[in-house]
Amino acid sequence: NSIEKGAVKWSAPSNIALVKYWGKKENQIPANPSISFTLNHCKTITSLAFSKKETTGNFSFDLLFEGKPKEDFKPKIQKFLERIEPYLPFLKEYHFEIDTQNTFPHSSGIASSASGMSALAMNLMSLEKQLHPEMTDDYFFQKASFLARLGSGSACRSVKGSVVVWGNSEITGSSDLFGVEFPNKIHDNFKNYQDTILLVDKGEKQVSSTVGHDLMHDHPYAERRFEQAHENLSKIKTVLESGNLDEFIKIVESEALTLHAMMMTSMPYFILMKPNTLEIINKIWKFRTETQIPVCFTLDAGANVHVLYPENVSDKVLDFIKNELVGYCQNSQYICDEIGFGATKL
Ligand code: PMV
Repeated sequence: NSIEKGAVKWSAPSNIALVKYWGKKENQIPANPSISFTLNHCKTITSLAFSKKETTGNFSFDLLFEGKPKEDFKPKIQKFLERIEPYLPFLKEYHFEIDTQNTFPHSSGIASSASGMSALAMNLMSLEKQLHPEMTDDYFFQKASFLARLGSGSACRSVKGSVVVWGNSEITGSSDLFGVEFPNKIHDNFKNYQDTILLVDKGEKQVSSTVGHDLMHDHPYAERRFEQAHENLSKIKTVLESGNLDEFIKIVESEALTLHAMMMTSMPYFILMKPNTLEIINKIWKFRTETQIPVCFTLDAGANVHVLYPENVSDKVLDFIKNELVGYCQNSQYICDEIGFGATKL
């Protein structure tokens, strides 16, 4: 079975963790299970053109980012290809042209590794499928998630939607090796759940996630944190089924602050929030107390704030964001997103 040349194209979304992945073992095995909402609008769109080579000695690829050659991304891709080659033995037989772009602004401080690595993994799986047409859809997506994990841990949660679990846990079917869709029925309260991302600081990350995960080795609170993640996953599982938004808010905000607490209590230590991050959090708390509208925040490993709320309060929350929070964003920038359904073939 030989395929000489061809091209494929996929889009893959970003995701936002509710219970955070922070800390890993060898081979991108997470130290604790995590769960995320897949996003809908923040995506990476990647096309992959492939052609069979004469020689098979090395990886051979060109990389375009938004239409222009991007040399500084190449080492990351090279490393990714090295890591996944044992599982895709044909990689050195082809020359690849990878052309990639994001739907969100370039230096927005939104991590593109989850969407980017999963979009590339989907494309490579499409070629694998052409070589092995008998492959089932389930296998295709599971292996794509497995490969994406080797690029960036959280990328394995971007292949599917709308809620994805990664890491061995009490949730049926969950695995350290790939993300799986939350298997139980999700309450309608979470249907079209909204995520408005407030861009507080669009600068380069102070701490790469690789360095961040490493800080959990020899961290004084690591073991308790990993246990807590299991406890919170168990609680959020019940919440996703029952629709209890008060409980949802408690778990999600506590997880965000715990992630940052881990960074503040590691050695070396980091503060990744900015003054405006705290201003926004306080405003959200005040608004919630005054209006009883179930809006909450979460954070990634940075200063930007994800504002999470049900669709039926969108108008009120968006008014609040425009009137009271946009002033804390860099250049008044924010992105309206919502829960989505995973990678799509284009
Ligand atoms: O996938 P990585 O290695 O970039 O780690 C991402 C970690 C967090 O975004 C901070 C949390 C998470 O679970 O997504």
